[in-house]
Amino acid sequence: MNSISILFSGRGSNAHNIIDNIIQKKLKFNIKNIICNNKNSPAIETFSKKNIFVDVLNSNDYRNNENFNNDLLKKLDPQNGDLLLLCGFMKKIPANIIKSYNGNVINIHPSILPKYKGLDTHSKVIKNGDSFHGCTTHFVTEDIDCGPIIAQYIIKVNSDDNEKSIADRLLIFEHKLYYNTLELIQCNILKYQDKKIYYNDKILVKPIIYND
Ligand code: GAR
Repeated sequence: MNSISILFSGRGSNAHNIIDNIIQKKLKFNIKNIICNNKNSPAIETFSKKNIFVDVLNSNDYRNNENFNNDLLKKLDPQNGDLLLLCGFMKKIPANIIKSYNGNVINIHPSILPKYKGLDTHSKVIKNGDSFHGCTTHFVTEDIDCGPIIAQYIIKVNSDDNEKSIADRLLIFEHKLYYNTLELIQCNILKYQDKKIYYNDKILVKPIIYND
């Protein structure tokens, strides 16, 4: 069984969903660490009420990213076969941490990458009158929201959608997408080696697409 470490910064709903699925034994991973870099995250209390321990490594207490990343790496203590999951973790993961996981660091992003990297994806979708929105899981590289894409959930934007309604609807699909991605890894269907994604032992040439 792979061990996973989870990093989050804010609301923590993706982290929560993964942890719940592990508790319910739908996902068979061993949880090694749950780390939050923001001591004000409301999710810390939510988790604590469920007796789920969150290690708080408050990045604002650090003078620089280098010191924060050194402490983060010490806490993570990556071993062969471990996975690192970013669940709304709003800090860049440095190359040495990615390397120490042999690249097995996964992120979820609320857009159909490569469209709309970075922040404010929902407002961009609404402002630009896009017909579709979505979310993406991808392996993490040094460039934010740029690594090899695993899978995407694509949903239709309704004519009466606004920034909040589309974000709320998409979040449900984010949870499904992270679950689906982890399930593929758990079943050994999906692997990442030498910066390439393998699906059933063949190189994945385009993202796995789910529709609502
Ligand atoms: C999610 O929408 C996730 O896709 C996004 O942050 C939110 C965290 O929500 N991540 C990124 O934008 C990464 N570039 P959550 O804390 O409820 O999981």
